[in-house]
Amino acid sequence: MELYVLNDEEEICKRASEIIFGDIRRNPRIILGFATGSTMIPLYKRLVEISKKENISFSEVHTFNLDEYVGISANNKNSYRFYMEKNFFRKVHIPKENIHFLNGEAKSLINECSRYEKEIKKLGGIDIQILGIGTNCHIGFNEPGSSFKSRTRKVKLSRETRKANSKFFSSFNKVPKYALTMGISTIMNSKKIILLAFGKDKSEAVKKTLTEEISEKFPSTILRRHKNSIVIVDRNAASKLKWKIK
Ligand code: F6R
Repeated sequence: MELYVLNDEEEICKRASEIIFGDIRRNPRIILGFATGSTMIPLYKRLVEISKKENISFSEVHTFNLDEYVGISANNKNSYRFYMEKNFFRKVHIPKENIHFLNGEAKSLINECSRYEKEIKKLGGIDIQILGIGTNCHIGFNEPGSSFKSRTRKVKLSRETRKANSKFFSSFNKVPKYALTMGISTIMNSKKIILLAFGKDKSEAVKKTLTEEISEKFPSTILRRHKNSIVIVDRNAASKLKWKIK
């Protein structure tokens, strides 16, 4: 695992976008795994800006998002699909058929999850998976206690996660109780993983990710077993790490 501690959100997004565009230049048919949430908003802004400025196309790129709420339609402004359309897909040139998403309204959620796994496999697996982190160390919607062997499935969201995500909803009660998420093992199969975190709120989760014993109690600790995982954080998110950062 590589760790970068940078000054602020802007530097984090710059570093992450350099890695992503570097890999797209080498392989324009790359498969990207995307996340949502507030951490990703400045990253998508940067990816859109640089792709326009440097004329980098997403026309051959395929994307798979990590997760989606259950029972919310793609047109609902709180769906992750809507978030991605608004912050990224509508602003770049990417063919609709290259965008892969979990459908939280599918008739059979079990079939939907296995369809997603098959699609990822058919395209040769995810090249770069981008992750944020929950204050309880969740990655995707793999809450504490999720099996390291888990694949894409329906999960119950913890109260802590629903509370954190209520910032996007009109009230806490409107936050769905269930979601579909790629599993830990699905995420770990990605060839490269980039986890981004900024702000003091994430400092405990960042500390646990890097220093706690690897266990299902803290899902993000598994990333230390990945041979190509990169953690990019700001000074605030790194503030609970013991060693002194200059
Ligand atoms: C969202 C996702 C979540 C978020 C995490 C952090 O697709 O997978 O794991 O990355 O909850 O969310 P923010 O960035 O809003 O703090």
